[in-house]
Amino acid sequence: MKTRLSDSLIERIEKLKKEKNAVILAHYYQVPEIQDIADFVGDSLGLSQNALQTKADIIVFAGVHFMAETAKILNPSKKVLIPDLNAGCSLADSCPPEKFLKFKSRYPGHVVISYINCSAQIKTMSDIICTSSNALKIVESFPKEQKIIFAPDKNLGAYINGMTGRNMVLWNGSCEVHNIIKTETIIKLKAAHPDALLIAHPECKAIVLELADYIGSTTGLLNYTMKSDCRKFIVATESGILHQMKKASPGKEFIIVSTDEACSCNDCPYMKMNTLEKLHACLYNEQPELKLSKSVIEKAKKPILRMLKLSE
Ligand code: 13P
Ligand code: SF4
Repeated sequence: MKTRLSDSLIERIEKLKKEKNAVILAHYYQVPEIQDIADFVGDSLGLSQNALQTKADIIVFAGVHFMAETAKILNPSKKVLIPDLNAGCSLADSCPPEKFLKFKSRYPGHVVISYINCSAQIKTMSDIICTSSNALKIVESFPKEQKIIFAPDKNLGAYINGMTGRNMVLWNGSCEVHNIIKTETIIKLKAAHPDALLIAHPECKAIVLELADYIGSTTGLLNYTMKSDCRKFIVATESGILHQMKKASPGKEFIIVSTDEACSCNDCPYMKMNTLEKLHACLYNEQPELKLSKSVIEKAKKPILRMLKLSE
């Protein structure tokens, strides 16, 4: 019965999509049924690149608020819908604009590189944006002597500092899903699965990243599992990515690093607020709609476009 219900929901979404010339963009952390109905599934960089190129009149962003904001900034004349307006991000929330403005004033002469997981307001105060897949390239595009503030993710910032030998000033922010991943859990999993490789998202703590065989964005992690000869992976990120990993490599085994012994999953509570039902309702009602002021759009667009140009 449940299958029949979701089947008809899928048909209705497909029909509305055609009627309204809408496109569905989804992040890898969305529930599998949303990923399967999306026109494009990707990481933050892929999603921004897709949002920039789309010819659709309506963008339904199945992701979190800062991602939909980025799509709106890149497409001010299009309608950008998000299935649940409350789908925020703990990392973006860890950097309130008023506090960041004060912080920034303490470091004159510094360039501000902000990870895309931040609010549109923070983007207006940034010189350039980066994502987990291009952070190294963006940072390295500045001369070695350039002083840099990196916000809001201290873990990604510390990882890039280590990779480049730089000493960027880091905002003390983190993601509640990745920052809680413990080395003890990983060590136990490694002992139980000595034939597995550990792959991790750079939002994890340095002590976790030190144990990893590969570190990368969600797309980077997915590609790595596809290309690698290894048959088993311990995955230190959000559980949604496993859907595409299993689809791409059905013969391989994926073990998610759970944050809790009693739980076999690692879910982002914000990403998982979006459901197929909410996606249908938002396309049908054309609400909730993501709105931003003209001045925020104009100011936030520059650092995003600068990043996209460098990522071509
Ligand atoms: P990616 O850009 O690697 O998909 O990361 C987005 C994110 O929110 C990770 O928590
Ligand atoms: Fe934000 Fe973390 Fe969720 Fe990614 S996983 S959207 S960084 S709270």
